Amino acid sequence: MRIDILTIFPQLFEAPFGFGIFKRAIDNGLVQINPVNIRDYAHDKHHTTDDYPYGGGAGMVMKPQPIFEAVEDIKNKLDDKGASLPVILLTPQGRLFSHKIAVELSQHPHIVLICGHYEGVDERVVEHLATDAISIGDYVLTGGEVPAMVVADAVLRLVPGVLGSEESPLDDSHASGLLEYPQYTRPPEYRGWQVPEILLSGHHAQIAKWRREQIIKRTLEMRPELLDKADLGQEDKRLVKRMMHTDKKD
Ligand SMILES: C[S@@+](CC[C@H](N)C(=O)[O-])C[C@H]1O[C@@H](n2cnc3c(N)ncnc32)[C@H](O)[C@@H]1O
Repeated sequence: MRIDILTIFPQLFEAPFGFGIFKRAIDNGLVQINPVNIRDYAHDKHHTTDDYPYGGGAGMVMKPQPIFEAVEDIKNKLDDKGASLPVILLTPQGRLFSHKIAVELSQHPHIVLICGHYEGVDERVVEHLATDAISIGDYVLTGGEVPAMVVADAVLRLVPGVLGSEESPLDDSHASGLLEYPQYTRPPEYRGWQVPEILLSGHHAQIAKWRREQIIKRTLEMRPELLDKADLGQEDKRLVKRMMHTDKKD
């Protein structure tokens, strides 16, 4: 999978994707992260990418021309001229990013992310260039680079082979709509705190049962609203009922 990221700070992407899992996936040719410098598409001698807002007000707005031309350059080099290429603007006004959206994006072989700055981008980018708009949360950051890193990380780790084991992303929190069970590693006792006995028992069926209970318990405690939307079996529903009942008694 390939992700092109339009930014005025392309160097920012070297560190997050230059180590560990992503470095290996890039070296193995599984994924490609391609920062595109928006300034390279500005025609004036200062490579200006922003200007004052029409109507007045504080701050600057990113000009449409370098962004349009950068995206068009990417599309023109593709066989289908980018007919089905998702062009996603990072903006606090977009649809709220989630595991579901990460899965949806990971099924495309190629996506483009646009990072805004200052007061944001000229509205004609939203209306006539971007095919989607994504927010990573209900707060405002100074630029779209951190949101682009968040989206790229969440999407690329779902590409088969990136994590090494195909199983691991499926067990993670949110993949099934619930939170993951607690994890422990050696030593079995640390500062007097014990690892739950069951995990040391070697009883795979009982460990699986314990983990399922923990998934339900943790989700109920931390994010109860997730249980309403989750696909729960009969046994899970019984567990929820029992735990809610125990809670009320406490
Ligand atoms: C300071 S923000 C602009 C906010 C804009 N004036 C508004 O109120 O909607 C500058 C840039 O940071 C990025 N950004 C900030 N917060 C974001 C968020 N929660 N999700 C995605 N992108 C965000 C966007 O690319 C945005 O264009």
